[in-house]
Amino acid sequence: MHPEAIGRARFCSSLSGAAEIGAMLEELQGRARAFTLLDAGCGTGEQLLALAQRFPAMSGVGIDIAAANIAAARARLRTRPDLRGRIRFEQADLREWRHEPFDVVITNSVLYLVPGPTDALDARLAALTRPGGLLLLCEPVACVRNSVLIALRRILRRLRSRALERLALAIAKRLHPDADIAFLEDRIPYLYVVPERMNGPARERELAAFGFRRLGELLVPDASIAKLRHSLAVFRREAAEFPVAGRAWRD
Ligand SMILES: C[S@@+](CC[C@H](N)C(=O)[O-])C[C@H]1O[C@@H](n2cnc3c(N)ncnc32)[C@H](O)[C@@H]1O
Repeated sequence: MHPEAIGRARFCSSLSGAAEIGAMLEELQGRARAFTLLDAGCGTGEQLLALAQRFPAMSGVGIDIAAANIAAARARLRTRPDLRGRIRFEQADLREWRHEPFDVVITNSVLYLVPGPTDALDARLAALTRPGGLLLLCEPVACVRNSVLIALRRILRRLRSRALERLALAIAKRLHPDADIAFLEDRIPYLYVVPERMNGPARERELAAFGFRRLGELLVPDASIAKLRHSLAVFRREAAEFPVAGRAWRD
């Protein structure tokens, strides 16, 4: 589905996460077109490598603040010599990283974890997205279900203990019997995460101040009842120059 066609519709997708980002990009870019892509907060690199395979003329950079993730991503890339010339991974903090602008910038479950002022983060996103380029944010979305989960997480933060985490892990194993134990353990700290920012109308207004026009938004199917509901919000960066706080702002 093309985002221009989605308009203001929300919560209408049956795809999920990284697969949804790939499908959306295919709608917008086609498979054959050459473009540059930044995967900001790329984790261990699976998503960027899958996109490189799907889009043979794409070249991409994955950045992540965690050195261990970048080491794992580079190890994964070493097993894919066919992709090596087009993809690279770099350890970097999105809030400070400087690079020439990309045709497409994506984040998948990243911005809601990044502390600090949202306008500074959005200025960075604007500087990293070329005018006319796309910004795809797969992030938790402001909705009733997430408000309830966040209230619960605030309570869990107060009760935090080893016993509680053992109980949460036991429940997770019941709910996801086929999942890898290490993966489930890795998810436990997320039970305490309260988002710094979420997709939704307020976020759209913040991004509009940096020249991003919302094209559409899709609901990503829930991977787990404990996970915050995510949406994939798609924006186009409109102009090279636009007013911010009464000043003309440039890359
Ligand atoms: C929930 S994981 C998602 C990873 C990946 N995008 C995915 O979908 O599998 C969040 C990632 O954001 C990274 N991250 C958090 N803050 C960051 C920052 N300021 N700059 C770059 N990466 C950051 C974390 O290290 C982590 O790998």
